[in-house]
Amino acid sequence: MTQLIKTIPEMRTIAAGWKKNGKTLGLVPTMGFLHAGHKSLIDRARAENDRVMVSIFVNPIQFGPGEDLAAYPRDLERDLETCRAAGAEAVFFPETSEMYPPEARTRVTMTGLTETLCGASRPGHFQGVLTVVTKLFNIIHPDRAYFGRKDAQQLAVIKRLARDLDLPVEVVGCPLVREPDGLALSSRNIYLSAEERRAALVLSRGLAAGRSLLAAGEISAEAVKAEMKAVINEVPLVRLDYLEIVDAATMEPVAAIDRPILAALAAFVGRARLIDNFSWPESD
Ligand code: PAJ
Repeated sequence: MTQLIKTIPEMRTIAAGWKKNGKTLGLVPTMGFLHAGHKSLIDRARAENDRVMVSIFVNPIQFGPGEDLAAYPRDLERDLETCRAAGAEAVFFPETSEMYPPEARTRVTMTGLTETLCGASRPGHFQGVLTVVTKLFNIIHPDRAYFGRKDAQQLAVIKRLARDLDLPVEVVGCPLVREPDGLALSSRNIYLSAEERRAALVLSRGLAAGRSLLAAGEISAEAVKAEMKAVINEVPLVRLDYLEIVDAATMEPVAAIDRPILAALAAFVGRARLIDNFSWPESD
């Protein structure tokens, strides 16, 4: 059985009880509407820990004005079944007022890593992510926490958070899971019509074109970006928000591909904003 936990005190008590009994605890933070990408994180946590906790919380403070907070898809019953089937012991599902009582005033911010890519196009987004993840770590005290490379900048930011604030948690990065046709799995794919979904395939195709150039020895970031943009801009239903090649450690744009990089993009397709990326050289 998967236990549903809604309050912070209850969550603290249960997690502390597990830890007192010497059990290791893996946490998978999510915003719900779980898919095979989330499940891969739960599976990895299951393999590496005695107890697995999934949090489901659509974190309002990481959404900007005009973004899809109200429309964000939700299906708690189905999510609980996914968590149960994947062997998670418990799901933490707090109300917004539980996480952010009206008197709350503190936010966690980071410079540098959060200033490019999604940080540039979604002001305040990473402050919201950093704040909620810090709270989850402090409430649950996981030994390990699992994050997908689908959100590569988020993973880098949370690894930095744990190091900078000496949080006693191992932040584990997990591979990006795709549909067989290449589309990166996302809760937001539900927004796509059949035609938009077909159009969205150009994102992974564009990235693959860039990767082929790198494999062929191209080291000019401009040349690789131009090739990826040319492929993607052929599809009118897809509008790039950004496409950038950054240093994998600093998230700063690079001119030459002479160190580990992240090629990352965001694009609007219909009412969905989708992100995708690849690392070079390939990480795990
Ligand atoms: P959410 O978008 O629900 O994603 C939860 C976790 O699942 C993240 O670590 C994300 O990278 C991972 N994930 C999503 N799609 C994936 C895919 N196709 N392959 C592999 N992993 C995938 O990311 C968030 O929620 C929030 O920002 C959160 C960290 C929970 C803070 O609110």
